[in-house]
Amino acid sequence: MKLLENKWALITGSSRGIGQQIALGLAQRKCNIIVHGRAESNTAETLRLLKAYNVQTHVVTGSLDSNENVEAIIKAVKAGPGPVDILYNNAAIQNKWKPIWEITPEEWLHSFQINLFSMIALCNAFAPEMKIRKYGRIINLTSGIKDIPQLAPYSVSKAAVDKYSRDLAAELQGTNVLVNYLDPGWLKTDLGGPNADNEVETVLPGALVPALLEDNGPSGRFYAAQDYTMLTE
Ligand SMILES: NC(=O)c1ccc[n+]([C@@H]2O[C@H](COP(=O)([O-])OP(=O)(O)OC[C@H]3O[C@@H](n4cnc5c(N)ncnc54)[C@H](OP(=O)(O)O)[C@@H]3O)[C@@H](O)[C@H]2O)c1
Repeated sequence: MKLLENKWALITGSSRGIGQQIALGLAQRKCNIIVHGRAESNTAETLRLLKAYNVQTHVVTGSLDSNENVEAIIKAVKAGPGPVDILYNNAAIQNKWKPIWEITPEEWLHSFQINLFSMIALCNAFAPEMKIRKYGRIINLTSGIKDIPQLAPYSVSKAAVDKYSRDLAAELQGTNVLVNYLDPGWLKTDLGGPNADNEVETVLPGALVPALLEDNGPSGRFYAAQDYTMLTE
C-alpha cells in the first residue's frame, strides 16, 4: 500500500460528510491531517475517528464565506505544524432550492464565494509553496449535477471549479504540483440528502487516487470516485 508518511493534508469541510471520509482515508495512508470545520466543536467527531490511525492532527476553523474569513483560515494553517502537501478543497454549499428566476445576486455571490473564490484563495496561498518544494497534490471537489436549474448557483460554481482546475494545472505543468478535480458521486450526506444513490463511505478509495498519484503524474484531469469502488488497495 502506498503511504503518505510525513505529509500534511488540509481537507476543507472535514468535520462531516465526504471531507471526513477523505480525512480518514488519507490518515489510513499515514498522512497527517489538518481538520477543518466552521466551529471547533464540529471537528470533534473527525478527531475522535482519526485517533485510530496514529497520525498527527491539527484543527483550523472558520467559514469560507468571505475573503477575510478565508485569509484567517490560511493564516491559521500557515501557523500550524507542517506545510500543506495535499490540499483537498472539499467544503461547499448547495443553495436553497428555488426557481432560477428568483435566485438573487446575493445568493449567486454567496455560492461562488464559498464554492469557488475561497478555493482559489486557498490555491493561491499554498500552490506557490508546493511549487518551491517540488511536491503538491490539489484536488477540487466538483459535481455531476445537471439539469436542475433550481440549484444553478451550486452547479454553475462547480462548472467553474472544473475550468479553474484545468487552468491552474496548466500554470503548474512540469512542477510536480498536480491539480485534479473529483466527482464523489451522489452520496448520502447532509448535502446529498437521504435519497442519494450511494453511502458516503463509497467515496473511498476513489477519492484517494488523485492524492496518491506518482510524481509528475496526470494533472488537469477529472476523476469520478465511484469508478474505483472495486479497488481493494
Ligand atoms: N453529497 C453529494 O451527493 C455530493 C455530490 C457531488 C459533489 N459533492 C461535493 O462534495 C463536497 C462535500 O459535500 P458533502 O456532501 O460532504 O457536504 P456536507 O455533508 O454538507 O458537509 C459540508 C462540509 O463543508 C463545511 N462547510 C459548510 N459550509 C461551510 C462554510 N460556509 N465555510 C466553511 N466550511 C463549510 C461543513 O463544515 P461544518 O460541519 O462546520 O458545517 C462540512 O464539513 C462538496 O464540495 C460538494 O459539493 C457532494
